[in-house]
Formats: sequence, C-alpha cells, structure tokens
Amino acid sequence: MATVTLAPMEGVIDVHMRDILTRIGGIDLCVSEFVRVSQHLYPASVFYNYCPELKTGGKTAAGVPVHVQIMGGEAPVMAENAEFVASLGAPGIDINFGCPAKTVNRHDAGATLLQWPERLHDIAAAVRRAVPDHIPVSAKMRLGFSEKSLALENALAIAEAGAAKLTVHARTKLEGYKPPAHWECLRPIAEALSIPVVANGEIWTRQDYLKCREISGCTDVMIGRGMIARPGLAREITAPPSGAQTRAGFAWLEILDLIIDYHRLIAGVPHPVWQAGRLKQWIKLLGRTYGESADLFLRIRRLEEPVDILSEVNSERERIYADA
Ligand SMILES: Cc1cc2nc3c(=O)[nH]c(=O)nc-3n(C[C@H](O)[C@H](O)[C@H](O)COP(=O)(O)O)c2cc1C
Repeated sequence: MATVTLAPMEGVIDVHMRDILTRIGGIDLCVSEFVRVSQHLYPASVFYNYCPELKTGGKTAAGVPVHVQIMGGEAPVMAENAEFVASLGAPGIDINFGCPAKTVNRHDAGATLLQWPERLHDIAAAVRRAVPDHIPVSAKMRLGFSEKSLALENALAIAEAGAAKLTVHARTKLEGYKPPAHWECLRPIAEALSIPVVANGEIWTRQDYLKCREISGCTDVMIGRGMIARPGLAREITAPPSGAQTRAGFAWLEILDLIIDYHRLIAGVPHPVWQAGRLKQWIKLLGRTYGESADLFLRIRRLEEPVDILSEVNSERERIYADA
C-alpha cells in the first residue's frame, strides 16, 4: 500500500495549508518547513511557530502526524534541538540534507553536506541517539551536490546511522528544480537499503506516480508542488477516482471553496500583504491543473487586499452557479 507524505515547503506549506490538504484525505504524513539550527538551543516558541500542531498532539485537525524538520551542519546542536522538540511532542524528526539555497549552503547546512557522507552519518547518528527510541528519525536528501557519484554512499551513511526512513529528491543541488527528476537513480538506493526509501520530485498526477513507482521501485512518495497544484492528488493515488469524478478528483467549484476556506484560516495572521501573497501563490500554482485558476490569477495578481481577492473568488463562484 502506497504512503503519501506531504513535502516540506518553506513559505508554501504551513500549518494552514497542511490543515486544508490533510482534510481532503490520502496524506499519511506531513513534514514541517525546516527549522534552521545553527549555534543554539531554540526556545519552544520557535518550534511552535514552525509546527503549531505540536500543541495538538503533533497532528493536523484531520489526525495526520507532522514530523518536525531540522537543518544544520553541527551534530551536537542538531542533537540538542532534536531532543528538545521531541520533548515538546514531535511525533518524528526529519533532517534536511537537501536544501539548495545559497545562503544555507554557504553556512554549512542543507545540500552542501552531501559532499561528505561521514558528516551526514555523524549528524543523523547524533540526532538518533538524542531522541527517544519510539520517535522515528528520518532524513531527506538530494542525489548529490554538483554530481551524483556519492548518492548511494550518502544514503547508506544515513541508514547506518539509524534513520527509520530516507526520502530522496531525485535531483542534485545543481539541478535545482529543473525537470526531469531522475527517478531511475532511486532504484539502486531502494535496492541497497533495508529501510524504506521514499521517492520525491515531479509527481504532478496519478500517472506520474505510477511511472515513478515503476522506474524507481519505490512505493512510497513525498509530494510537494503537485499537492498544491492538485489538492486531490494524494487521494487519487491512494484511492483511484471512479469514472464519475472530475479530472483532478475535484471540480473547480470545490477548489474555490477550498480557497475560501484557506482565506478564513489565514485571516488570523495580522499581515494583509502576507495573506494576499499566500492567496495569489496558491491560485497561481492551481493554474497548472485548473485553466480557470490561471484565468483567475490574471484578475487578482495586482490586488493587494485579501478581501478584494476573496471578492473575485466569490464572483467566480456566482458566475458558475449562474451558468449552471
Ligand atoms: C518553495 C519551496 C520550498 C521548499 N522548502 C523545503 C523545506 O523546507 N524542506 C525540504 O526538505 N524541502 C523543501 N523543498 C523541497 C521540496 O520538499 C521537494 O523536495 C521538491 O519541491 C521536489 O518535490 P515536488 O516536485 O513534489 O515539489 C522546497 C521546495 C520549494 C519549491
């Protein structure tokens, strides 16, 4: 049985988006945006900020666990923070070895560590030792930094450190987010490791999932942008749609309801510019699946007030009802 993990996406998948997407169904696990760990033990407020679900048993309202992702290059301080966030109730800890951001890599964290398998091992082992046995520690890596020759060695180093699971984004840091994702490179890793290997990268449709599974040999997947562009995707993967259902498991009208719901959830954040930005970001990404959303985006892209965006969304709904 396939498991679908909702990918961590800084600035895109936060507590509100996790709430919306996990209520739809099909998602087994979420991973929080990364918490950048450098020199200190953070106070609880930092972890609550990235993962408010820590206050509700580490789960979204729909009951899906949220693992907390940490990122850093120093094993002792990573371990210290991991132990602390576990004590706050994190149901799992994920370590980020894949972030391609220049500032992050310049400061010895994220994908730059993929150049030294022994460092991945030391960080993962220190985090594993610091966290109670019943709390899983996992990691997420790319295929390499500038090339792929260390992919298997890195994966083995992480597994030998005691990680319960490894997600591999099937590209190097240098390849950024440029298609294709090299699903074929995941097969030797999945075959060599005795822990589950989760495939990640460029899964936008159920067909992509099936192709990725066939090529990579991985049953489990992590999906980021595809879940934002197609909110019904995890459900389509785990419970294939019947003929009567729409092209994306959701009609455009239902998507509009989700956007209205999302607006309600983020209305509590006291920054209208931030709210407007998040609404525009989602409507734009939905345009990949829903042509109507691409048209809606053209109408809202210059609006700065969330209420004005909401009003356009409501007009779109009324138009659909009037046409029906
Ligand atoms: C805007 C953005 C933010 C991201 N933030 C994170 C992050 O915080 N932690 C992480 O491990 N990966 C992060 N990623 C990488 C994604 O988790 C994922 O590996 C990548 O998008 C490929 O998967 P996809 O094709 O399903 O989107 C981010 C990607 C994007 C585009």
